[in-house]
Formats: sequence, structure tokens, C-alpha cells
Amino acid sequence: MPALVLLGAQWGDEGKGKATDLLGGSVDYVVRYQGGNNAGHTVVVGDQKYALHLLPSGILSPGCTPVIGNGVVVDPAVLLSELSGLNERGVDTSKLLISGNAHLITSYHTTIDKVTERFLGKRKIGTTGRGIGPTYADKINRVGIRVQDLYDESILTQKVEAALDFKNQVLAKLYNRRAIEPQRIVEELLGYAEQIKPFVADTTLILNNAIDEGKVVLFEGGQGTLLDVDHGTYPFVTSSNPTAGGACTGAGVGPTKINRVIGILKAYTTRVGAGPFPTELFDEDGEKLRVIGGERGVTTGRDRRCGWFDAVIARYATRVNGLTDFFLTKLDVLTGWEQIPVCVAYEIDGKRVEELPYSQTDFHHAKPVYEMLPGWSEDISKAKSFAELPKNAQAYVKALEEMSGAPISAIGVGPGRDETIEINSFLS
Ligand code: GDP
Ligand code: IMO
Ligand code: MG
Repeated sequence: MPALVLLGAQWGDEGKGKATDLLGGSVDYVVRYQGGNNAGHTVVVGDQKYALHLLPSGILSPGCTPVIGNGVVVDPAVLLSELSGLNERGVDTSKLLISGNAHLITSYHTTIDKVTERFLGKRKIGTTGRGIGPTYADKINRVGIRVQDLYDESILTQKVEAALDFKNQVLAKLYNRRAIEPQRIVEELLGYAEQIKPFVADTTLILNNAIDEGKVVLFEGGQGTLLDVDHGTYPFVTSSNPTAGGACTGAGVGPTKINRVIGILKAYTTRVGAGPFPTELFDEDGEKLRVIGGERGVTTGRDRRCGWFDAVIARYATRVNGLTDFFLTKLDVLTGWEQIPVCVAYEIDGKRVEELPYSQTDFHHAKPVYEMLPGWSEDISKAKSFAELPKNAQAYVKALEEMSGAPISAIGVGPGRDETIEINSFLS
């Protein structure tokens, strides 16, 4: 089983960090392939809790090599502070590899992210303000700065000047902000160069060789399927491809090398930031999910919007990612409801719709069609096998599996590493 992708099947925060960490002990490489420090992946090991933003969750497994692929956007200040934070807690980070082709988030990208949001006013996306969109925009516009540019001062200076030429006009004339002095940015970036240098590598070569040698490589997505810039709820999305194809472009590995694609799926739904969300709850059930589920953003501290499970979305995730398995998380959070509504289809303009509509207008008008499933009251957090779950919890899982289009191979019953029920091994 040389290569697997693990990604978010909903709007992010499904529990990818926990799932990656769980497999980290048995894999050789864990690779982030897109996004940046907009992600917040929580890993709980014993009584220790880690919040990872830019670094792959495999960094907490001593035998595993963590890799930041070419598709990731790297804020060098965040990178160094995350590394030193882990070092202070006794985590060895020396094996980290960073692609020389990854793009850098500079201070002007975070500035532009924030002023653009302010300018959008009511129409804002609700970004994390980490400079993600402007950095990917520069990459596509071919005015980005890459990690490798840190090691050629003359090229770096030319590129920063070229990038700021246009941006300074926009900042000064449109946003009424002070222009940014290119030399200040160059010096800021050069200040990080030496500390980052030992990690910089040709990661596509290393990863392809590793797969060819039969090593196990796990690609860890940030965000989720519905936040994908192509397949998500555009424009309320992030600026990268968290879907499975993103692992190929964001790491330089061909699709023929990938054997398994695991969708991380919360037993209910959450979303942070603006955008449509058919099963969103505005009542006490929503509040209960938020409190019991601890649904507060790891990166921005914002409350997450909460709603019931949406099988239309899960089916869509199966389709656009070619999912082979699901890892269902946070089943324990649903303990205590007498009945649990599950969205099985939408009603759009009086018609029942079974698949996610491609039209933004239709999706904005989608009303959930619910089926009620019986709940359970027993504590399930100590369950170690599917058979140990109460009958109604088993039936809930089986119903979700049937509606979602791929087998549920693991179930999370708590945040800890060992609070997982394994049904089918991901590594066989
Ligand atoms: P990620 O961004 O997908 O890695 O997810 P986050 O870390 O942002 O949010 C998931 C939250 O749920 C974290 O606080 C995890 O510790 C927690 N978590 C993950 N799996 C489970 C589970 O099965 N049960 C419970 N109760 N919490 C979980
Ligand atoms: P993890 O990896 C949930 C959301 C933001 C906003 C939109 C665009 O922890 O699941 P951006 O800063 O990326 O330009 O913001 O995407 N968003 C996330 N929501 N989990 C995440 O990451 C997210 N990363 C970005 O809230 O709506
Ligand atoms: Mg998160």
C-alpha cells in the first residue's frame, strides 16, 4: 500500500489531524500538498494537545518524514515559530523536507488578504487572513516568490520588485494604504533563509523514489472538498485544491501511484466563514453540537457553524475524489439525541434533488430533506469495536455508509489517538 491520500470530505475540520496522526506511526512520509497555515489540525497524544497549522501531522511520529510539497504556500515566519514551538515541547523536527518550488507567503500577501476582505464588506469570504488567496493568485499570475528564491538574492530582489510594482499602485490608489518598500521585504525574507535552508529539497524526486521502493507515503489534505477552488462552493472557498487531484499536482506524484483515497467525514457538519450550508442549524441543537463538539476554529478561534449530517455532500465527496473509504469522526458527539435528522436529498424550487447541484444559485436555494434516525444514550467513547457500539449507533453508521457511496473503515469516538474503532485497515 505505497500511497494514500487523506482529505476532508466536507468544509474542513473533520478531524484530519487526528486521522493522519493515527496512521503516522505506520507510514514513512506524511506530505502536505496544498493550503498553508489557514489549516488548524488538532492532534491529541495522551494528555498532550498539539495544534498544527503548516506542518504535516506526521511530524509527531518519530519514524515518519514530514514533507511540505510544492503545492503548499509557506509563511516563513509561521514555519519557524511552529518548529520552535514543537522543539520546545521535545518534538524532533529535523527530518522535515520542504519543496524548493513551494510559494512563500510574505507580509504583503497577508496585508492584501485583510484589506481585500475589508473592501468586500458584506460580500466577504471570511478568510483566515493568512494571505492564502493573494499568494496563490501571485503563483497563477507568475509573480510569486518561491522557497528557492531565498538562495539567490538578485533574483529574489527582481521578483519582489516585480510583484510590488503593481500591488503598490493598488494599495496606495485603491485601498489608501502606504506603499511597501521592496527592499524591506527582501531583507525580511533573507532573514529566514539560513534557518530554512537545511530543510529545502527536491521533494518530488524523493517521494517518487520512496513510492517506487515500496515505502508508505500519506498525503494529508488541508481544508476540505467543499472548500476546493474548483469543486467547492465557489466563491466561498479557499484558493487551492484540497480534493484528491491536488495531491498529484501539489506533490508531483502521478495518479497511477495512488492506491487509496480516504475521506474524513464528521458525523454531522460544520463550516467556518461565509457561504451556503443547507443543513445549518440556528436553534438549540446547533448550539448543543457546537458545545459538545468543541466546534471552535483552531486557527482563528471563530465559532464554527453547525448542522446535521448531509449525505448529498458525502456522495459528492466520494465522486470528485474517487474515495475508497471514509473515516467517520466525532460519532460520540451525537450521543444523547433521541432522534438524529440526516439530510438525504435537497428540495430546490419544489423538486427533489439527489446530487449536489453544480449551479451556485440552486445550491443557495437548497433545502434539506431529512430522514430521522433513532439516537442512543450510552457513552460510546470507550468502544473498541463496531460490535461494542449500541445498536442504534451501529445503524446510524450503516445508514450513513449506504448513503455516502464508500465503506466507513474507521470511526472516531473521541479526540485521542486510541479513541478510534478500526473496521478495515487503511494500510493492508
Ligand atoms: P482538522 O482540521 O480536520 O484536522 O480538524 P480540527 O482539528 O480543526 O477539528 C477537529 C476537532 O475534533 C479537534 O478538536 C479534534 O481533537 C477533535 N476530534 C477529532 N476526532 C474526534 C472524535 O472522533 N471525537 C471527538 N469528540 N473529537 C474528535
Ligand atoms: P482545516 O485544514 C475550515 C475557510 C475559511 C474561509 C475560506 C477561505 O483545519 O480543515 P482562506 O484563508 O483559506 O482564504 O479562507 O476557507 N477555511 C477553513 N475552514 N478548516 C480549514 O482548514 C480552513 N481553511 C480555510 O474559514 O471560509
Ligand atoms: Mg481544522
